[in-house]
Amino acid sequence: MEKTKQRPHVIVLTYPAQGHINPLLQFAKRLASKGLKATLATTHYTVPSIHTKTISIEPISDGYDQSGYNQAPNLPTYLDSFKTVGSKTLSDLIFKYKDSDSPVTCLVYDSLLPWGLEVAKKHGIYGAAFLTNSASVCSMYWQIEKGVLSLPVGDGMVPLVLPGLIPLGFCDMPSFLAQPVGSHSAYLEAILDKFSCLELNDWVFVNSFEELESELANALLGHWPVEMVGPMVPSMFLDQQIEGDTNYGASLWNPIGDQCLAWLDTKPPKSVVYVSFGSMAQISAEQVEEIAWALKGVNKPFLWVLKEPEHEKLPTEFSNSTDQTGLVITWSNQLDVLAHRAVGCFVTHCGWNSTLEGLSLGVPMVAVPQWSDQPMNAKYVEEVWKVAVRARKDGGVVRREELEVCIREVMVGERSDEIRRNVTMWRELAKRAVSRGGSSDQNVNKFVQVLLTGEK
Ligand code: UDX
Repeated sequence: MEKTKQRPHVIVLTYPAQGHINPLLQFAKRLASKGLKATLATTHYTVPSIHTKTISIEPISDGYDQSGYNQAPNLPTYLDSFKTVGSKTLSDLIFKYKDSDSPVTCLVYDSLLPWGLEVAKKHGIYGAAFLTNSASVCSMYWQIEKGVLSLPVGDGMVPLVLPGLIPLGFCDMPSFLAQPVGSHSAYLEAILDKFSCLELNDWVFVNSFEELESELANALLGHWPVEMVGPMVPSMFLDQQIEGDTNYGASLWNPIGDQCLAWLDTKPPKSVVYVSFGSMAQISAEQVEEIAWALKGVNKPFLWVLKEPEHEKLPTEFSNSTDQTGLVITWSNQLDVLAHRAVGCFVTHCGWNSTLEGLSLGVPMVAVPQWSDQPMNAKYVEEVWKVAVRARKDGGVVRREELEVCIREVMVGERSDEIRRNVTMWRELAKRAVSRGGSSDQNVNKFVQVLLTGEK
């Protein structure tokens, strides 16, 4: 009997947070759709949240198998544990496949877990980092790591002008830089760590596309073996529909799915304000209250994702009000919501996935960045891609009047037509980038070709 030809096998290793699992899972599915065998390696406690038929899921250990990473006393302890226990279990996993009919050819690892490269090298297989932030944000961190920009960023240094980036004020920089350095030093350290040896990878994948960050794509190419492969938004892959998915197929919380869509079905086109601040940001009680009254003031139907602990912060008078025009839910199927014809505005924290999702599905945005890379994403959505209005803070909080004005501006104001035109253009460019022959599609194909032929 003829021996079946082996498919090259890629293990994709993800950090166990929603904003990381989503793009890495999608990337793994993308590789499988192009003829590779793909396996997603993720922590034990996140495995049950992932549902897919096209790739395998394998658990690895971060040392917190029962309780999850929230039980770690702090980030450095968690990352140390993941490095020690994770590299061993990942190594065992690669070893397990060694004598099977699908030995592992390449490890694509989440750049927050830079030890993935050592594991790949140890096994003599290709190693590739996957960056889950925008290329602009990555470039900024990289310039800090390389000493081009030294911290702290002082008063005399703003607006900060760096190669490939637009001038940035304090409120536009990743929060770890603009705050007194030290207040989030563990995060900054973990992030900078991932840029320390990127050039040693065989590939560096970025969840972005060349048309969106063209200058950066060219600038970074000189330093890393970079490939823009995004946006990793499932519903964009129209010509090569993977499992017919409109969602990622991973949810760490239970979405209120059908009920939301049925409610949206009853609303006129582009009339609903969708509000979500992603999976990690913690919103203060004061901010929750300001958002609540802004939504009331705007007087349009709204769908607001407020995770469990934040729910407690809703003002009682707001929760009890009888003329409720909106739904407040604990988690949504965000892509289904953004794709719904009734949604006319996305009030977002500008996490990179949410930003790409808003762009890819053509929804005008109001940017309310909270922390991390979000202020910089907010700067770009407003000033470079021109698909959003950014709400300004006053005393650390976006006030109700400001938010109301921004939502109206995006939905019916002077800039609304221009914003809608721009976001429609970006939606088309995003779709084109991942469609057959598009820039991201070609970049993925080049990688797949190397694995298929063994020639780099
Ligand atoms: C944060 C960062 O800000 C992000 O840039 C970084 O790369 C990862 O850490 P997060 O706060 O989770 O991420 O935001 P985001 O990047 O937007 O990811 C959230 C994901 O959860 C999105 O893919 C979104 O579709 C999904 N989501 C969010 C839901 O499925 N339902 C919801 O109700 C809210």
